[in-house]
Amino acid sequence: MCKGRAKEAGSETRRPSSSSRAAFLLSGIPQSWREFRRRSSPWSLALAVSLCGAFGFVELLVSVCAGGNGSIEAAGRPRPDEKRLQTVGVMTSMAILPLLFGCVGIFSLFKLLQCMWMKASLQDAVVVITGATSGLGRECAKVFYAAGAKLVLCGRNREALEELTKELTASQATKVQTHKPFTVTFDLTDPEAVVGATAEILQCFGYVDVLINNAGVSYRGAILDTTTDVDKRVMETNYFGPVALTKALLPSMIKRRQGHIVAISSIQGKISIPFRSAYAASKHATQAFFDCLRAEMEQYEIKVTIISPGYIHTNLSLNAITADGSRYGVMDKTTAQGRMPMEVARDVLTAVVKKKKDVILADLLPSLAVYLRTLAPGLFFSLMAYRARREQKSKNS
Ligand SMILES: NC(=O)c1ccc[n+]([C@@H]2O[C@H](COP(=O)([O-])OP(=O)(O)OC[C@H]3O[C@@H](n4cnc5c(N)ncnc54)[C@H](OP(=O)(O)O)[C@@H]3O)[C@@H](O)[C@H]2O)c1
Repeated sequence: MCKGRAKEAGSETRRPSSSSRAAFLLSGIPQSWREFRRRSSPWSLALAVSLCGAFGFVELLVSVCAGGNGSIEAAGRPRPDEKRLQTVGVMTSMAILPLLFGCVGIFSLFKLLQCMWMKASLQDAVVVITGATSGLGRECAKVFYAAGAKLVLCGRNREALEELTKELTASQATKVQTHKPFTVTFDLTDPEAVVGATAEILQCFGYVDVLINNAGVSYRGAILDTTTDVDKRVMETNYFGPVALTKALLPSMIKRRQGHIVAISSIQGKISIPFRSAYAASKHATQAFFDCLRAEMEQYEIKVTIISPGYIHTNLSLNAITADGSRYGVMDKTTAQGRMPMEVARDVLTAVVKKKKDVILADLLPSLAVYLRTLAPGLFFSLMAYRARREQKSKNS
């Protein structure tokens, strides 16, 4: 029934042009590549590429030896110099591809081993995650728990934190030794609560190895309609709260000359998008503060990582606040089409184990926009003005 209808409708519509068909196919490439990477284990991929390279190389050696003998027979009495040159020529032209494959495979295997070894460094590490009740924070809790970290899960909703703790301790999908997480409940916008929470966090295990400042709130609205209270609320959650918590935990890290501070910023910490003023401002401030912190903390051997994701499929847009402070309550198409939070959480873990300084976790287009803002600011500003006009028009209509 449905198939028939589709056929009818198809016969009425115009055939898509070759350019739109090409655009459609191209748009599917990143998704298919992501799906392929998700399904195939990196170990088997790296091994397959290395074996492919090794096999090709052996085959090449055999054929070069055989070819060398043949040329002697065909040419009668070739001069030794010519024969050597011929062999070297064949070797270099045919060896490039298998050698390249082999190198890529061996390099990938080396990287995977390095990653495995570094992941082991998270075993028994004390990791504090804010905003663990939902979205990215919740998934980070799962990946760090599975890596054997001792977790302190923070959020405003005690029940959600306890439910997550139960879920984690019930899961058996890890070979490493795991630890029952602690939970600390507080609101980042309340400075006194942050001070109290710091003491509670330190009581859990006596120290903190990694602090992941993940909690955050988004915002949707026009600057002209937005009350200053809303601007302050976004800044308090995304900037002042994480800054206060970080400052409160730093002395204990400095004392041990060990610690790692992670700030989950956003691609909007690098570029500003219209109708997101308070959010983009809070994330730009986050970028600036933690960049300064990285420089100042180097002497104490404390690492700082800023992670700037693009869209992630979480409740962020649903929980966003609007110009008058009410809940936005809409799942934006861009957020719904974003990366899966579990994938991003794994990238956060990799950034932590590799002690990366600044990481962009976004698709090609937003990543390009960051470079456009620096290299061709005039063009970037025109594009943003066009986007603002278009959004305003669709709101008015
Ligand atoms: N989703 C995206 O597209 C995206 C893109 C780039 C960056 N990010 C960043 O990723 C981080 C995580 O967001 P998400 O996408 O996972 O959104 P989410 O599902 O809405 O989670 C936000 C988390 O922050 C907590 N939180 C909010 N206000 C708080 C406050 N005043 N005090 C304490 N905790 C508070 C929430 O706790 P409650 O349960 O108590 O509300 C929740 O656990 C944020 O920093 C966000 O800016 C997200």
